Amino acid sequence: MEALLETEVAGLKLRNPLVLASGILGNNPSLLKRVEQAGAGALTTKTILPEPTRGYDNPVVVELPFGLINAMGLPNPGIKEFERELAEARSEISIPIIGSAGGGTPEEVAYVAGRLQDAGVDAVEINASCPHVKGHGLEIGGTPDSLEELVAVVRRSIRIPLLVKLTPMTSDIRSLGEAAVRAGADGLTAINTLRAMYIDVDAMVPVLSNKVGGLSGPAIRPVAVRSVYELAPISDVIGTGGVESWRDAAEMLLAGAKAVGVGTAIMTRGLEVFGEILNGLSNYLERKNLSVRELIGRGRDT
Ligand code: SIN
Repeated sequence: MEALLETEVAGLKLRNPLVLASGILGNNPSLLKRVEQAGAGALTTKTILPEPTRGYDNPVVVELPFGLINAMGLPNPGIKEFERELAEARSEISIPIIGSAGGGTPEEVAYVAGRLQDAGVDAVEINASCPHVKGHGLEIGGTPDSLEELVAVVRRSIRIPLLVKLTPMTSDIRSLGEAAVRAGADGLTAINTLRAMYIDVDAMVPVLSNKVGGLSGPAIRPVAVRSVYELAPISDVIGTGGVESWRDAAEMLLAGAKAVGVGTAIMTRGLEVFGEILNGLSNYLERKNLSVRELIGRGRDT
């Protein structure tokens, strides 16, 4: 059963393709340990910045019938405090830990990435795509030129595998992916959230304190699948966006993803979702007489 589910992405060997997406859970070591126990093949931390950040005031999440809009504002303890948390988590967790690095300039992101590497993460994922924090994410990595510069600077600061989380808010995600790969990325995570807004018609005001946030969940899954389809020919991809069931995970793999991110489903249904997806995926693979590795890209029809 293990071999059936094993995969490899950006040089990381995973016991199964499910990866906790960045930004979903806090970085508390016991919480991260529960992610491993729930069955994840790897986990991604919340985005870490050079300094601690409180994030936005409540409300930071609005739940809709087809997904969530969140605007947390990159709350994080800062890299110094996170190093302590990571040391504790590292000694208890054996699945790969992907450290999500952020910052307001390429040099800040590179600084965080270097310290994450020294603190023991197995790979770094650049958050080049948060769609609603001024001076961060999308604003420093949303075009091929800015992304290439960002990735090149971070690449020089670490030796471990480097992933780049891409925005879907572009007319050509493949150009973004190509820029990241040219600058030395080993893999791409597709996709981050789409900038979105929700207005309460009774109160007649935007619900989120930041007014604008990022849409995730089932509504964006077809966008994520299409993005994976376009990126898989140029790089290893972690397909992320609205995965809630084994069918969704299988669809990402069929589109060419080497691993599958799970995010919003954990916020809405809890950590049990990892086990449910893995059970369904194993049954499906047995029915089809295929392993995960054999499934990857099989739905591309090319
Ligand atoms: C947030 O912290 O507000 C979300 C982070 C992201 O979208 O990358």
